[in-house]
Amino acid sequence: QPRLVQFKLVLLGESAVGKSSIVHRFVKDSFDDYRESTIGAAFLTQTIELNPEITIKFEIWDTAGQERYKSLAPMYYRNSNAAVVVYDITQESSLERAKIWIKELQRQASQDIVIALVGNKADLEEERQVDNEHAKLLAEEEGLLFFEVSAKSGDGIKTIFQNIAEKLPVE
Ligand code: GTP
Ligand code: MG
Repeated sequence: QPRLVQFKLVLLGESAVGKSSIVHRFVKDSFDDYRESTIGAAFLTQTIELNPEITIKFEIWDTAGQERYKSLAPMYYRNSNAAVVVYDITQESSLERAKIWIKELQRQASQDIVIALVGNKADLEEERQVDNEHAKLLAEEEGLLFFEVSAKSGDGIKTIFQNIAEKLPVE
């Protein structure tokens, strides 16, 4: 019988980068071309097997990216063990927004929070505006995990959560 260890995880990022789509791919293994913009925040859970002894349960807050909800974010990241900061590889401005979230987390979130920078919509290579190496370097400089993924195809989605789980303190 594996031991169950729970962690809180928050997703942050500009509206329409695909935060909800990433969570739905991870939790339900589904994708919707016409997902509605999140209002406030949504709560979902998913477990993954870290190893035969330990199962990790993620309690996930999928926040709303629209500017009008910005002031709610601290409620969700304040007690989080991990944060996934998402940008859209086809929108340069979304990386700028991601950098601001990273700064805010580094100042206001828990000292030992595990942060991942995630470039979503990797399936839209022909519309790319953000260079992979540029974002990867930025993540390295800030000491963050880094992934390019596609919620649409599912590529890389499980890897985000698996790698975060491996960095969390399970004792
Ligand atoms: P807010 O809730 O407003 O903050 O947005 P969000 O970040 O949750 O974005 P959401 O998941 O609602 O996705 C926005 C749009 O992008 C939807 O139309 C999705 O179908 C689309 N989308 C999400 N992920 C991908 C992806 O990996 N590839 C492509 N091509 N489209 C995607
Ligand atoms: Mg959403």
